[in-house]
Amino acid sequence: MALITQASIQAVLDACDMLEIVAPYTTLKKSGTSHMGRCPFHGEKTPSFSVDPVRKLYYCFGCGEGGNAFRFIQEKEGLQFVDAVRSLADKYGVSLDYESSSPEEEKRRVGKERIYSLLDQAAGYYSRVLQESSSAAAARDYLSRRGFKEEVISDFRLGFSPEKGKALLKAATAKGYAIEELVRAGLLSDRRGGGKMDRFRGRLMFPFTDHRGRVLGFGARVLDESKPKYMNSPETELYHKSRLVFGLGNARRAITRENRVFVVEGYTDVLALNQAGMPAAVASMGTALTEQQMREISRFTKNVFLAFDADWAGRSAMLRALEPARRLGLNVRVIEMPTGNDPADLVFATGGLEQFGELAASAPGLLKYQVQTALSLSDLDSTEGKVQAFKKLGPILSQAPNSIERDEQIRIVAGRLRLSPENMAYLMQSAPSTENGDAGGSTKRRVLSQGEITERSFLSLCLAREEEAGRYLQLMTEAHFTTDLNRSAFNWVKNRLASVKETGSVIKETALPAGGELSDLISELFIRAQTEKYSPAALPELFMRLCESEIYRRIEKLKSRLGSGEEVDLKELYRLEDRRRGILRKIQSGTFETV
Ligand code: GTP
Ligand code: MN
Repeated sequence: MALITQASIQAVLDACDMLEIVAPYTTLKKSGTSHMGRCPFHGEKTPSFSVDPVRKLYYCFGCGEGGNAFRFIQEKEGLQFVDAVRSLADKYGVSLDYESSSPEEEKRRVGKERIYSLLDQAAGYYSRVLQESSSAAAARDYLSRRGFKEEVISDFRLGFSPEKGKALLKAATAKGYAIEELVRAGLLSDRRGGGKMDRFRGRLMFPFTDHRGRVLGFGARVLDESKPKYMNSPETELYHKSRLVFGLGNARRAITRENRVFVVEGYTDVLALNQAGMPAAVASMGTALTEQQMREISRFTKNVFLAFDADWAGRSAMLRALEPARRLGLNVRVIEMPTGNDPADLVFATGGLEQFGELAASAPGLLKYQVQTALSLSDLDSTEGKVQAFKKLGPILSQAPNSIERDEQIRIVAGRLRLSPENMAYLMQSAPSTENGDAGGSTKRRVLSQGEITERSFLSLCLAREEEAGRYLQLMTEAHFTTDLNRSAFNWVKNRLASVKETGSVIKETALPAGGELSDLISELFIRAQTEKYSPAALPELFMRLCESEIYRRIEKLKSRLGSGEEVDLKELYRLEDRRRGILRKIQSGTFETV
């Protein structure tokens, strides 16, 4: 594919109307210089999605999704960059120029196109054999016995590979393909005694396609109980097992329409769900769902239902999927199949989607599922078991984003482990943390600790209540904040308020730090200051909480010095403990007046 010139890309961007592009996905209201609406990337009730029509950028303060017009189209319509550029060029009538490619590049491109078209023709060939050949009678019987109908068979282009050793090889070479190309496509294997033969023989063929529906390889199932049940294409230049999401091409439209996807284990589960009227279904390639597969899926929706088999392998695969899912900002829910069933069994046994739908509706979120599983696998009657359960759950809970769900799970775990909420909180603080930037290198989606969240809420509240905030900020130092970024934001907010006081004027946008994390954070704080509702007591309360945490950190430092045998002013330690207790009492009783 020849490259679109940089100038053309810029021309498309210049022609774009960001408000118009976003319009089909959410309703925006003008607020100040930005336009706000409910985020089209995650479900929410209060708008946290903002669009800057001048810079042609969007950003969601809720989920951290952001980018330019191309990015938006890529995400919402599940397109590659180049296709997003093309689609917007079309929409705004910009004609695209291409870099002229070298002859070698051109040759490579054409060569690869031939492999695509060979695979496509192979799928067509297998499909015709299944439909028409007398040799495929058993395969047709098999499918109809299992309840698969014509429509789903043709939608997924199922096929049958003849038993004869060189059927495909002959058909393809007759069409002008070289043996070497068939090998590149993964369609041949070595024959004992030399030479090549068809890789797939006497099997039911499931074409693997990409999200655009192009055939990349095949999964091939035996018709009986013999092993291996499936034989899949080898890794090729087009087919990579760890990346492929079975059925994505068929499901894509339904996924974006419904803004959710059901991920199952088996190809047959996808077919069964489709046939039952649930087209937003895809399969992992066997049990584990890789991060790459999740990335593919997350281009179309963030709402993922995992419906793996009700066995140990399925359960552990779901648990393993949770961490990368969190990193990718996916909202995962877990559908637990009745024991011994996979989704296909369930749909066929019950003759429809009713039960599957009920299970989906009551599917626990990721956190709840992890908690349930860890609790049910531990022997909570023994101390050892409680410790084990805590070791598993402490880090999970302390890293989970602050939410009602998290609070609820903390209460549940504290109850089951017989811990007081206070001890539970203490233990969670000391639980090792594995966060530290995500794989994508974006700080936006990093899961914030409870402390960082409080610090940021406080700062945004200072921006919302500039007159009152001054007196609190006066009493604070950088030590009240736990990250460099939050410390910079604190200094920025403090300086701003001080100069507002001096000059009486509110400094406009121009005073925003130029670019980078800090400017992202400050814009976030401003937007939150405008949009979030706080009670009058919130400012003093958050202030007290930050003071309490700061003292707590000083106490911990003194204690650890004490622990390592250094000399420590014990009076200081007691004084701090006293002050901390005093503050905690005030927070608990809700009296914040005496600052
Ligand atoms: P049915 O038994 O026909 O319903 O197929 P299924 O797709 O539900 O199979 P199963 O539940 O046993 O396995 C789930 C998925 O794991 C399959 O769809 C394959 O992706 C993968 N898988 C299972 N067995 C094999 C195998 O022998 N080889 C390979 N490569 N993959 C397999
Ligand atoms: Mn299965």
